[in-house]
Formats: sequence, structure tokens, C-alpha cells
Amino acid sequence: MISRKQAMFIPLGITCIFILLYLNFDLIYPQGISNIFISTSPIIYGNFTCETAENISNLNVSKYHKCLSWSIEDDFWPVEGLHHIAHKGLLNSSSLIVEIGGNRGHDTVKFIEHYDPWIISYEPLVLRAKSLTEQFKTNSKVKIHPYGLGSYARKFLIDSNDYNNVGTNFFQKLSSKNSSQTVQVELLDIVKIIQDIRRTKTKNGIIDMLSLNCKGCEFEILPALILNNMTQYFRTIQFSTHLGLILDASVSCIYCQIEVALDKTHETLYHYTKIWEGWVLKNKTEN
Ligand SMILES: *[C@@H]1O[C@H](CO)[C@@H](O)[C@H](O)[C@H]1NC(C)=O
Ligand SMILES: *[C@@H]1O[C@H](CO)[C@@H](O)[C@H](O)[C@H]1NC(C)=O
Ligand SMILES: *[C@@H]1O[C@H](CO)[C@@H](O)[C@H](O)[C@H]1NC(C)=O
Ligand SMILES: *[C@@H]1O[C@H](CO)[C@@H](O)[C@H](O)[C@H]1NC(C)=O
Ligand SMILES: *[C@@H]1O[C@H](CO)[C@@H](O)[C@H](O)[C@H]1NC(C)=O
Ligand SMILES: *[C@@H]1O[C@H](CO)[C@@H](O)[C@H](O)[C@H]1NC(C)=O
Ligand SMILES: *[C@@H]1O[C@H](CO)[C@@H](O)[C@H](O)[C@H]1NC(C)=O
Repeated sequence: MISRKQAMFIPLGITCIFILLYLNFDLIYPQGISNIFISTSPIIYGNFTCETAENISNLNVSKYHKCLSWSIEDDFWPVEGLHHIAHKGLLNSSSLIVEIGGNRGHDTVKFIEHYDPWIISYEPLVLRAKSLTEQFKTNSKVKIHPYGLGSYARKFLIDSNDYNNVGTNFFQKLSSKNSSQTVQVELLDIVKIIQDIRRTKTKNGIIDMLSLNCKGCEFEILPALILNNMTQYFRTIQFSTHLGLILDASVSCIYCQIEVALDKTHETLYHYTKIWEGWVLKNKTEN
């Protein structure tokens, strides 16, 4: 039997549980209320190739052809820290960064040092993702996911033998299926992941930075976002370009379709052709 006095505590206890659940929810979703209002249109799946350029309805052809003749600007390397510091004044401790290619945490560490932001980072090598989770376990604003992102979800085997120790090469051919270096990686669909982050981790649907350093995934992630009109949801976008990986003449076609499309929604913050570049959302009130 419970007394009247004890009975009074039951609703109080239940209320406390709800408050705790709410607070916990708030910790998981620090940016606030979920954005139920963000609609999800059907996803358009596609790739950029030299042929697809002809089909882009409002492609700025002159800009595109100009871009095709651009050469690599590798004078970036002496100022390589740019991709860590160029966002001063644009990012701060309430910003949300989506990082694709956690690698060894080099960029993540710098983002924390300069901005102390919220970071959601994707690293497809499971062992490396584990060590990143360990490395950042004391920072509750950093979340590491043990998978990569691509234009569509899939699993495949890769050779994790990574000669420069900088990251996974999406396009590296397997030397042998039975190597101790062969690991399975999983990629999730970039469009679905971004839709989900916009809904659950942002107040207004805007992600402050997308940072891509992922040995080749830029050639499928950026086209997927562009085809689905989603670049407009990133206040800043920066990416490194990896040319040597696709031994194919179409690389410049893909790169230049990305350049011309980004130029519509964003303006450059820094730009080293086919090495590293950063873009900032255009101020819509100016247009
Ligand atoms: C995109 O390219 C990949 C690799 O070439 C291919 O497997 C995939 O089917 C293509 N997707 C579409 C929608 O064309
Ligand atoms: C270009 O568009 C036409 C008409 O929609 C289509 O038949 C063709 O397959 C497209 N070509 C490419 C490379 O996407
Ligand atoms: C196309 O790009 C060129 C620069 O290459 C620019 O001068 C021109 O205004 C652009 N045209 C349109 C319609 O945006
Ligand atoms: C961070 O920047 C945003 C927008 O630029 C601003 O609204 C916000 O107050 C800033 N937050 C902090 C903690 O400085
Ligand atoms: C894979 O390699 C191991 C050890 O090198 C060997 O014992 C095994 O038979 C190999 N398996 C296949 C399918 O070749
Ligand atoms: C993207 O925007 C263009 C131009 O505004 C429109 O034609 C196209 O249908 C849109 N695509 C999607 C997937 O919303
Ligand atoms: C956008 O432009 C307007 C007018 O030039 C300016 O007052 C405002 O501060 C700008 N906003 C941002 C976010 O840059």
C-alpha cells in the first residue's frame, strides 16, 4: 500500500523523468528543436561526366570552358593552414561542421582549436574511426561515425594500406582480395544524411560548414548535393580535390561542373584550383 503522501510523489517523479529525458534530448540535439518543416523531395541520383555537362539547362558554358583550361594551383601548400583559419568570423562555438573524411583527426583538431564548434565527422575506416572516437572522447561536441558518405549507399572492400597515411582512397584497386590490409567500408547516402542532420541538428536547416577531405569522394558528394539543390543549405563549403585517383579525362569535366554550380550559390573565400578551395554562401539580400 502506498500512502497519500507517497502517491503525491508519483506524478512529481514522472515529471522529473520527462524533464531529464528532455534535457538528454537537448544534449543529443544541441542545436535545438527538430525541423519537422523541412520537406524531403525525392532524391535525384546521378553522376557528372563530360556528357552530362551538355544536359545542364542553365550551365554557364563560357565559365565552364574557361574552367576546363585551368591548371592546378599547387602554391597552396605553403599556406595550407588556410583551410583551418579562413573561416574566422564565420564559425564560432555554436557552429555545426559536417566533416567528411575524419582521417587522423588533423583537421578536426584545428577546427576545435580555432572555433570550438560542434562537429559531426565521418571516417569509413572502422579502426581509424575507433581511434578518432578515443581521441575526441572528452569533447562532447564531437561525434565520429564509422562510415563514409557517397552519392548512394553501399559497402565495398578497399585496401586500407594507405601509403601517405592521409586517408582512404575510394578508387584504389584492390591488390588482392586476401590481404591483411583489405577491409570492408560502408558508405551512406549523402543526401539522406544531410536531410536528417538539417532536420534534427539545426535550428533553421543551415549547416555552417561542410568540409570534405576524402580522397575522391568529393567527385560524387558534391554532384549529389548539386543535383538535389542542397548546396544552398551550407553557409560554407570547403573541399580538397584529388586528381591522381581517377585516371580518367572526365575529372576536369566533373570538377568544372562543380565549380560552375557552386558559383551560383556561393562565392569563393579562398581558391587554389584542384587543390583546396573554400566557398561562402552568397548574401541573398544582395541579389
Ligand atoms: C554513378 O557512377 C557509379 C560508378 O561509376 C555507378 O555505379 C552508378 O550506377 C552511377 N549512378 C547513376 C545514378 O548513374
Ligand atoms: C541528356 O538528356 C536527354 C534527354 O532528357 C537524355 O536522353 C540523355 O540520356 C541525357 N544525357 C546524359 C549524358 O545525361
Ligand atoms: C558566365 O560566366 C562569365 C564569366 O566566365 C560571366 O562574365 C557571365 O556573366 C556569366 N553569365 C551568366 C549568365 O551568369
Ligand atoms: C556565432 O555566430 C552566429 C552567426 O554568425 C551568431 O548568431 C552567434 O551568436 C555566435 N555565437 C557565439 C557563441 O558567438
Ligand atoms: C588467405 O591467406 C591466408 C594466409 O596468408 C591463407 O592461409 C588462406 O588460405 C588464404 N585464403 C585464400 C582464399 O586464398
Ligand atoms: C533544383 O532547382 C532547379 C532550378 O531552380 C529546378 O529546375 C530543379 O527541379 C530543382 N531540383 C530539385 C531536385 O529540387
Ligand atoms: C547582407 O547584406 C546586407 C546589405 O548589404 C548587410 O546589411 C548584411 O549584414 C549582410 N548579411 C550578411 C550575413 O552578410
